[in-house]
Amino acid sequence: MPLNPVIDDWRDRVVWIVGASSGIGRATASRLHGLGAAIVVSARNAAALNEFVTAHPGSLAIALDVGDREAMAAALRQVLDWRGRLDLAMYCAGHYRAMRAGDSDLDDLLLHLQVNYVGALHLLDAALPALIAQGHGHISLVASVAGYRGLPHAMAYGPTKAALQHLAETLYLDLRPNGIGVSVINPGFVATPLTAGNRFDMPALLTPEQAAGYIVRGWARGRFEIHFPKRFTLWLKLMRLLPHGWYFAAVRRTTGA
Ligand SMILES: NC(=O)c1ccc[n+]([C@@H]2O[C@H](COP(=O)([O-])OP(=O)(O)OC[C@H]3O[C@@H](n4cnc5c(N)ncnc54)[C@H](OP(=O)(O)O)[C@@H]3O)[C@@H](O)[C@H]2O)c1
Repeated sequence: MPLNPVIDDWRDRVVWIVGASSGIGRATASRLHGLGAAIVVSARNAAALNEFVTAHPGSLAIALDVGDREAMAAALRQVLDWRGRLDLAMYCAGHYRAMRAGDSDLDDLLLHLQVNYVGALHLLDAALPALIAQGHGHISLVASVAGYRGLPHAMAYGPTKAALQHLAETLYLDLRPNGIGVSVINPGFVATPLTAGNRFDMPALLTPEQAAGYIVRGWARGRFEIHFPKRFTLWLKLMRLLPHGWYFAAVRRTTGA
């Protein structure tokens, strides 16, 4: 039984992807455009957004910084003016830098919080009243398997992704009676600018296009949690069940931390 209304026909659906200038967001935007959706792409890099629109006619670019709540509210008004409705809003903006406790940088910790979590609140604040008034639509938050449990070198990134997962569960429970779908996307490793600086082996690494394929399939199946690739994420889900002593030992053994 699907947990969300199934989205398998994208023709004329209005989709707003925040964090769509590169990587997973851009690949998902491109795939949905190919399936007939009307796409709005947002991020800071206006040149990359305009290049997307040129390559995907009929799309709309709205450049913004997710930390700017007024800009997010104005963008939502622009989306609604464009086609009169919003069918899916995907929060895909993200910032990541490996950071170890004892070597922490408060400015960068707060930037992770701002981009990965507070920006999602700005999107919700702008979009939820419109979705509730419509009585349909879908909110999708891109978190990460890094939010499942504590990991070494993840003190900046991991907690923001755990917060998004928690937020998504709460939104699901609150918004289901309003006919609004909510999903959380937990990718494993994907080769994008975000992970380009990683100096360790990334198991089961995917291309952004593969990630987009999993995401679109997840929406078509009405999933609440869309996690991939399963050959990687199912191990992490199993580790989630371990008592702390076993979990810490297993993480130390596999990461050498
Ligand atoms: N790659 C992975 O292995 C992986 C795994 C799990 C989860 N994720 C998550 O997937 C999402 C997409 O990441 P990605 O891997 O595709 O990396 P990416 O290509 O670097 O994409 C990040 C996106 O966020 C946007 N962004 C960053 N700061 C922003 C700001 N202040 N305002 C507006 N937009 C901002 C970037 O655009 P501008 O720079 O143009 O603003 C870009 O479009 C992120 O939430 C990430 O945490 C990635």
